[in-house]
Amino acid sequence: MIKIKTDKEIDLMRMAGAVANTVLLEVAAVVRPGMTTREIDEFAADRIRAYGAQSAFLGYKSYPCNICISVNEEVVHGLAGDRRLQFGDIVSLDVGVRHQGYIGDNAVTVAVGGCDILPQKLIDVTEKALYEGIFRAVPGNRVADISRAIQDYVESNGFSIVREFVGHGVGRTVHEDPQIPNFVERGKSSPKLKAGMTVAIEPMVNAGTAEVKVLKDGWTVVAADRLYSAHFEHTILITKNEPEILTCAEKMSSSLKAQ
Ligand code: MF3
Ligand code: CO
Repeated sequence: MIKIKTDKEIDLMRMAGAVANTVLLEVAAVVRPGMTTREIDEFAADRIRAYGAQSAFLGYKSYPCNICISVNEEVVHGLAGDRRLQFGDIVSLDVGVRHQGYIGDNAVTVAVGGCDILPQKLIDVTEKALYEGIFRAVPGNRVADISRAIQDYVESNGFSIVREFVGHGVGRTVHEDPQIPNFVERGKSSPKLKAGMTVAIEPMVNAGTAEVKVLKDGWTVVAADRLYSAHFEHTILITKNEPEILTCAEKMSSSLKAQ
């Protein structure tokens, strides 16, 4: 069942999204060579708390960290630990928060200091693919129109779409209907998009093979060939006009204050 949010719920989603994006920007800004992923996770936990929110991931299906930190060949759901980031690494930061009962979910991939041309192109194509998807999130279109736009853009740039994980509806819980795949399956029916739906669009893109594996820790998803992977995500609202990005720090900066 796909929920249509009321105006009141949309206001709360906007606030949760602003918190999620503010924390994500703050976390991305402190990433530097020599930091451990645990230090990043602890910093994120502090910032989430400072805005009166909670991690939407900690404890979800027993997930043990506050945010997901996925380095280089790690695709998503990387666990914080003793690993020290090095100049040239690329790191996906995925921040989901619950604020006044509603979820904001967003992710970026950033280079640590800087990186080579190939991983930088992967980052750029993945971010652009997210916006190709967002542009199609309008009433009258179907979920598959989002999926197709993302897949076409990524594959025409020579990269691969991860199929095991997908975007999703979002609201009071992290994962609601519908699923938002980043690829199309022929002959599969696809829900129509309607104003008032709130969805997280999140392309996961590999430099080499699309195949992934889950490490023995039970969480960390890696590219099977251990080549680079990137991930971007926004929570958006479908409106009768343009889609609205809910995970937007600027929008709420007047009413949002860290405690
Ligand atoms: N943004 C990811 C997702 O939407 C993060 C989930 S991590 C988990 O699936 F721990 F909550 F599973
Ligand atoms: Co998500």
